[in-house]
Amino acid sequence: MIVLGIETSCDETSAGIVRGGSEVLANVVASQADLHARYGGVVPEVASRKHVECILPVMLEALDTAGLTWQDINGLAVTNRPGLLGALLVGVSAAKALALALSLPLAAVHHLEGHLYSTFLAAPDLADRFPVLALIVSGGHTQIIRMDNHCDYKLLGTTRDDAAGEAFDKGARLMGLPYPGGPEVSALAALGDRKAVAMPRSYLGDTLDFSFSGVKTALRTYLARDNGDTPLADVAAGYQEAIVTMLTRTLQRAVQQTDIRTICVCGGVAANHRLQESMRTMAEQEDCRLVMPDARLCTDNAAMIASAGWYRLKYTAPDPLSFDTLAVSPLAQATICY
Ligand code: KG4
Ligand code: ZN
Repeated sequence: MIVLGIETSCDETSAGIVRGGSEVLANVVASQADLHARYGGVVPEVASRKHVECILPVMLEALDTAGLTWQDINGLAVTNRPGLLGALLVGVSAAKALALALSLPLAAVHHLEGHLYSTFLAAPDLADRFPVLALIVSGGHTQIIRMDNHCDYKLLGTTRDDAAGEAFDKGARLMGLPYPGGPEVSALAALGDRKAVAMPRSYLGDTLDFSFSGVKTALRTYLARDNGDTPLADVAAGYQEAIVTMLTRTLQRAVQQTDIRTICVCGGVAANHRLQESMRTMAEQEDCRLVMPDARLCTDNAAMIASAGWYRLKYTAPDPLSFDTLAVSPLAQATICY
């Protein structure tokens, strides 16, 4: 089965084509980052309008890259939740129109489900190796999920305030770095000394929850008192180290509590090199198999949506075309396949 996936939940218009659940035939991403940079963040109305312009060319480019025509596509998948409503509506409308016109089955995919399935693209054999423990670190979410089967998600921990990506983006803004902040902080931190500036870490008792508001306030206070005396690269490295350590230690405790030795780290922040290094060290200590997809599959893309949709269409009935778009939707409520 060949599935074409569509992703428009935020500021990337993407179409991806996946065969057999894990073979990526195309993964075209049109990023709007430059468009939103002047506002310092994503402007929902601007995002929706750009998606309308890009959706058709992006889908056609995906078909072209894969060397396929519409007649070769056996199923469709689209992100319908959570995200910016106007942005989601563009992808969902396109997917429903195609499903109707081409009589194709359509799967409505949760965006975080897509991020989880990016790890199955990176390591296809994982699809038969449950249980899996996954840390999703994106701009909107930071969650530890236990997966016991396809489409079976149990939430073990989540952030009580900002997501990790949000902490990177807001920290970047405090340091005067441009949007999107995560890659900027990461690049600057690589030039600094991560031990020069100590930033606080928060751990929330016995839970596997996260909190990043403390380190963000500590950064604001540090910058206000420092008057630019400390090299900004050292500040960025110290700030990044605090976020990375909180993520790594909490996932390590999840490994110890669950005794699950297959771990995945996915979502945009998983593109961070220091996080990758720290997770690799932890996985060695805990004797775990670690899967972290490469950067193109970590940040928003539609190949991951096509993969999640492929499994949904394999194990469940297609969604009726009456399904809605949702701005907020917990992953744990995603339907269980079997
Ligand atoms: O998964 P994603 O592309 O979109 C959402 O679903 O939110 O994640 C975007 C987030 C942004 O906050 C961005 O700053 C962060 O991922 N990010 C990074 C890096 N690359 C992207 N954060 C830290 N280091 C990076 N190299
Ligand atoms: Zn995402």
